[in-house]
Amino acid sequence: MTRRGVTVVTGASAGVGRATARALAGRGFDVALLARGEAGLEAAAEEVRAAGGRALSVPTDVAHYDQVEAAAGRVEDELGPIDAWVNDAMATVFAPVWEVSPDDFRRAIEVTLLGQVWGTKVALARMRPRDRGSIVNVGSALAFIGIPLQSAYCSAKFACRGFFESTRAELLHEGSHVRLSMVHLPAVNTPQFDWGATTVDRHPQPVPPIYQPEIAAERIVETVLDGRRARVVGSWNKLLVAAGSLFPGYGNQYAAIAAWSSQFTSRPISPDRPANLHAPLDGGSDAGAHGSFDDKAGGFWAPSFLRSLPQTAKNAGTALSRTVAEKRRRLSADR
Ligand SMILES: NC(=O)c1ccc[n+]([C@@H]2O[C@H](COP(=O)([O-])OP(=O)(O)OC[C@H]3O[C@@H](n4cnc5c(N)ncnc54)[C@H](OP(=O)(O)O)[C@@H]3O)[C@@H](O)[C@H]2O)c1
Repeated sequence: MTRRGVTVVTGASAGVGRATARALAGRGFDVALLARGEAGLEAAAEEVRAAGGRALSVPTDVAHYDQVEAAAGRVEDELGPIDAWVNDAMATVFAPVWEVSPDDFRRAIEVTLLGQVWGTKVALARMRPRDRGSIVNVGSALAFIGIPLQSAYCSAKFACRGFFESTRAELLHEGSHVRLSMVHLPAVNTPQFDWGATTVDRHPQPVPPIYQPEIAAERIVETVLDGRRARVVGSWNKLLVAAGSLFPGYGNQYAAIAAWSSQFTSRPISPDRPANLHAPLDGGSDAGAHGSFDDKAGGFWAPSFLRSLPQTAKNAGTALSRTVAEKRRRLSADR
C-alpha cells in the first residue's frame, strides 16, 4: 500500500486513541503514539506495525507543553513531516464537584483541555509554514451538555470547543489550508471507566447507548481524510447535542434526572481504587482499546439500550414537567 504520510495520536496507548492508531495504520499512515503507559504504547506500536505502518512510541505527558513539543520534534526527526495530528488524550474524575480536590480538578483540566491546546499548538507550528496538514480534536456530547459527576471533564470539553472555534477562525482569517476539525463522540466502551479517579463506591460506566472504540476511530480517521469542520457521532448523541444547544434548561433537568445513577453499575469498588489521573496505571500490563462493557456496547441498537428506552422516555417526561414548572414559578415570581 502507498504510504499516506505521518500521523500523531495522543492518548494512543488505550481506548479510542488506541483504536484510532490501528485504524490509521490500516489506511496507510505511519503513526507516532503519544501517551504515558509504556506497556500500552508498546502494544499499540506492535498493532500499527502489524497493520503495515511504521510506528514510533514517544512516552509523553500531554499536560506539559515542553514534553509535547519535544515529542513533535522527535516524530519529525524519526518519521518525517507530520501530516495529521489527533488530540485524543484525556483523564478524569467521576465525583460531585464538592468532593473533587483542587489538585484533581486542575489535573483533569490540564490533561483534557491543555493537552489538546498544546497538541494543536505544536502541530500548527509545523503545519502553518507548510500550509498543509490536518488536526482532529476529539470532543464529546459533553462539550454541549453538562452532566452531574463530571464537572471537570465537562468544563474541559466545553473549553476544548471554545478553543477549537477560536483557533479555526484564526486559520480561516489568514486563509490557511491547514484543516482543524472536531469529532464529538458518544459513550464509548474504553478503559476510562476502569481507571478514572472517583470518590463513588460503585464502578463507573459510560451512559448508554454505548459504542465500541472502533466505531469512534473510523469517524476520526474519516475526518482526518475529509477535513470536515465537525462531526457528531451517533443518533442519540445528535439528539443530546441538539437538546443541550437549543433547550439548555431542559438539558439541565434531563441530566439531573437521567445521568446520575446511569453513570454507575451496581458493582462495588473501593473509592481508593488506583486511578490514571496523575500517573499512568498500566503497571506493565496493557489495557487495550476496550473497557469492561463489551456486553453492553452496540450503540443505538444494543439490547441494553433498547431495554432502557421506557425509563428514558419517563425521564424525558419528568424533565419536561420540571422545566415547565420551573418556568411557571419564575413567571409568577416576576408578576
Ligand atoms: N469513552 C467515552 O465514553 C467517551 C465519550 C465521549 C468522548 N470521549 C473522548 O474520547 C477520547 C478518548 O477517551 P477514552 O475513553 O478512550 O479514554 P481512556 O480509555 O481513558 O484513554 C485515555 C488515553 O489518554 C492517555 N492519557 C491519559 N492521561 C494522559 C497524559 N497526561 N498524557 C498523555 N496521555 C494521557 C491514556 O494513556 P496513559 O494513561 O498511558 O497515558 C490513554 O491512552 C477523549 O478525548 C474523550 O474525551 C470518550
